[in-house]
Amino acid sequence: MREAAGFVRMLPPGPRGLPILGVLPAVRRDPTAVFMRAARRFGDVVYLRIGPRRGYLITNPADVRHVLQDNARNYHKSPLYNKLRMSLGNGLLTSEDEFWLRQRRIAQPAFHRQRIAALASVMAESSRDAAAEWRTMASAGQPVDVAEEMMRLTRTVVLRTLLGADLGPFAAKVDHAWTIINQHIGESFWSLGFTDWLPTSKYRRFQAARALLRGAVDHVISQRRRNPSDTADLLSMLLSARDEETGESMTDEQLRVEVTTFLLAGQETTSLALTWTWYLLSQHPGAQRRLEEEIDAALDGRPPEYTDLVNLPYTRMVIDEALRLYPPAWGFSRQALADDELGGFHLPRGWLAFIIPYVLHRLPAFWQDPEAFDPERFLPERSADRPKFVYLPFGAGPRQCIGHHFALIEAQLIVATLVQGYRLHLVSRHRVESWPLITLRPRFGMPMIIERRTPSRSSGADRPRPLSA
Ligand code: HEM
Repeated sequence: MREAAGFVRMLPPGPRGLPILGVLPAVRRDPTAVFMRAARRFGDVVYLRIGPRRGYLITNPADVRHVLQDNARNYHKSPLYNKLRMSLGNGLLTSEDEFWLRQRRIAQPAFHRQRIAALASVMAESSRDAAAEWRTMASAGQPVDVAEEMMRLTRTVVLRTLLGADLGPFAAKVDHAWTIINQHIGESFWSLGFTDWLPTSKYRRFQAARALLRGAVDHVISQRRRNPSDTADLLSMLLSARDEETGESMTDEQLRVEVTTFLLAGQETTSLALTWTWYLLSQHPGAQRRLEEEIDAALDGRPPEYTDLVNLPYTRMVIDEALRLYPPAWGFSRQALADDELGGFHLPRGWLAFIIPYVLHRLPAFWQDPEAFDPERFLPERSADRPKFVYLPFGAGPRQCIGHHFALIEAQLIVATLVQGYRLHLVSRHRVESWPLITLRPRFGMPMIIERRTPSRSSGADRPRPLSA
């Protein structure tokens, strides 16, 4: 990198890659593997050229904190988000600056802790409904795609708690439509953009999926407009929001974009967190047993409610550990608005900072035996020395996930309810592989056999020992 005065600035080390394309072909094949290798080989700040984009992969928690929090004003979401923006619109997840802040302020009250606590009974009820439906599936003994089951359940939760609606005739098709959209955006994420919008049959499928999603969202909005509700849910907040200066409400298009954002951001990530949790538990019978013991002792056969969650610390650690190994939002990136410095290297304006939770969550400097499933690494005494910015399943700084607490409470209630009645077994010899699209999905689904389980009723005397003992 050469400056006007002839002074040469050093680039950080990084993989050489191909002329012009850099590491683009490798990133298109397997992005998580490229980022993992680069961090292992070149250290804290790695120069990457990915086609037309240049930037640094950063893995030092101080640099990550600088970009996401301390100097967040100097960064926008990177142009890689344009593909998401073109498909879903300019909503809370993809917008910037004043507009973003306004939308965030409108939605924020729906996610206050007390509000979520009130919604927990609906989450618990939805989990019980799913548990009841699983009875027939368990009796049939046939494999069930748990990834699909979790998608259905988390969608029901978002619809019931935040949007107070159902999807009517769209319900059966919407997950498939989102899979097509996720795949299209995920696969074109790293492309140069020349071929993404050609009228191929794949593109036509994508457009049809987008139209179906739009129909589903319009159904949700028109249902509420026909039957106004006095509940202070997210949809009411979006509908009643007025611009401070003009007094105008959101346009129909903006409303549609935000409802789409919440419908997808709220169901997809949480369902993947749960799917990976079931997979990991099926591979670690010791953890499964420990979880059952905790849940049986804390609940004594009653279905879980919000107030039980404090007595389920191991359940929470299992979810935290699944989010570490398989972060649904596996990577994100920012673009510098002005020159900056990262780890002693000059980052020019317009270049990108890659922040990859999948890599941060496996750094051997902060995680002992990083590939091992070890929920107890989240015990307070084992986490005290770990920097906050090496564990980022929900991002950090002003753009941190708005649904963070919502998702964790929901996941804990779902796991506790389903573990009470069932044990899941991965279909033998099924190949499990993570698939880094926009989110980290299981490439070949997650077929599992659902076995019924009777929770053991314990007297207080034989409750499991406290975790810190
Ligand atoms: C396990 C579940 C979840 C995970 C792993 C997750 C992850 C994330 C991450 C990493 C970001 C930040 C992306 C970035 O900085 O570029 C984010 C943002 C966001 N998430 Fe989540 N999320 C989850 C659940 C939810 C839920 C339940 C909702 C809503 C119901 C939600 C709605 C959003 C929205 C609207 C944003 C954009 C916030 C903003 O920029 O102001 N997420 N999420």
